[in-house]
Amino acid sequence: MMIYKDRRKFLKTACMMAGTLLFSKFNDSNAARYVPRDEEEKKVPVSEDLMREHGVLRRVLLSYNEISGRILKGKNFPPEALKNSAEIIRSFIEGYHEKLEEDYLFPRFEREGKMEDLVKVLKQQHEAGRKLTALIMKSVDSKDKRVLKGYIDEFHRMYTPHAAREDTVLFPEFRKIVSDKEYDSLGEEFERKEKQMFGESGFEKMVQRVEQIEKELGIYELSGFTPRLSGKSANNG
Ligand SMILES: [Fe+2]
Ligand SMILES: [Fe+2]
Repeated sequence: MMIYKDRRKFLKTACMMAGTLLFSKFNDSNAARYVPRDEEEKKVPVSEDLMREHGVLRRVLLSYNEISGRILKGKNFPPEALKNSAEIIRSFIEGYHEKLEEDYLFPRFEREGKMEDLVKVLKQQHEAGRKLTALIMKSVDSKDKRVLKGYIDEFHRMYTPHAAREDTVLFPEFRKIVSDKEYDSLGEEFERKEKQMFGESGFEKMVQRVEQIEKELGIYELSGFTPRLSGKSANNG
């Protein structure tokens, strides 16, 4: 009886110890993975960061497109809207976003001997883009708006495929050729540079500036881009 009691006590203790061990192991592994929600949200991966910046570029292209359409129809547009758009391109896209690509992404591909043809074209397009921006800025107040329209259209035509190619080919390939550690530290480096150049919440401020331009041009409301299809169906016509 005594032996049974001891055995029962032994089994109870063993079970409790195993439980404690399992619980602490579970807790430890969770602790290792746990990142405070705020901290986690602050970290933006490199490709997402660059793609958000392309979002800013695409929204400026929408303004360029609106202005180009107005010139075609002989309508006026607020010159400040075009000046501010070109200024965002010059400072945020050419002076920051493209600089990151030129300083950190392109040399890495060149060193690895990968995507060299693509990188070469992308570099040439950055250079052409900077020239076009200078020409757009110079021509904003010119009387003959057809030349200005030509520059705006060329910029639009080049950057739509440029950004799309980077989003779908360059950035995914870049993720493959750098280590997780390098990728993370690069993300932090990009954040630091953004803060250094544009202050706290630089991206958000840039989006607000773009929104302001869209409002000036009357293209801010997203619903304004939805086609009116009432009464039309795929079976009609
Ligand atoms: Fe680029
Ligand atoms: Fe880009």
